[in-house]
Amino acid sequence: MKIFAHRGVSGHYPENTLLAIQAAIDCGAYGIEIDVFAVAGELIVIHDRQLKRTTKASGNIEDYTLAQLQQLDAGKGQRIPTLWQVLQLTNNNCVLNIELKGHDTVDLLLQLILRAQQELGTDLAKLLISSFHHPLLLQVKQQQPALAIGALTACIPLDYCEFASKLGAVSVHCDRAFIDEKMVQDAHQRGLAIYVYTVNDQREALRLKALGIDGIFCNYPAEATGWF
Ligand code: G3P
Ligand code: MG
Repeated sequence: MKIFAHRGVSGHYPENTLLAIQAAIDCGAYGIEIDVFAVAGELIVIHDRQLKRTTKASGNIEDYTLAQLQQLDAGKGQRIPTLWQVLQLTNNNCVLNIELKGHDTVDLLLQLILRAQQELGTDLAKLLISSFHHPLLLQVKQQQPALAIGALTACIPLDYCEFASKLGAVSVHCDRAFIDEKMVQDAHQRGLAIYVYTVNDQREALRLKALGIDGIFCNYPAEATGWF
């Protein structure tokens, strides 16, 4: 079972911060999932467009300059990291699953990955790009076919995993609320791995394992290694 640290080790540290990401590297997670938004030509690592939950600031990301955002407290004195900082930290240690949260993210992502290949020796095989915004994933695949795509869904589509096949994805990332045996079988028949979010207790993890899934996104990756 592949275990992705969901927003880093977000069960113990402030989500999507370097602290949570370092903890995920330290516990040997197979992968780390993070969320990114575009701000003023930079990709920043944060889950919500609204700032209140993770930083206590009012308003939305777009109400602030990049410098102002980087001064906010993302928890335990941590700052909102840039994707570049995360690429430097994780570099080839584990799979980095970058979830595109907003528009205008694709060109910045591809520029940054190219820079990471040149300056950090980043291995494209260690990157997995996902999004609920499937046209963005199509753009990524068309512009850089060597990048692996993970197709996110919060529902069971009428044609099951056909959407992921069309995208040339390697994996389908499905909400645990709806996933069923037919979805898992359809993914596997298409040669797709199926990863499920967000799984934070052993009972649920074992239920999903019995369905045949290949991995989970978990806020407690160190604990999860003992569940299976
Ligand atoms: O990528 C898996 C999961 O993170 C998708 O949902 O809302 O946690 O980004 P969310
Ligand atoms: Mg996410």
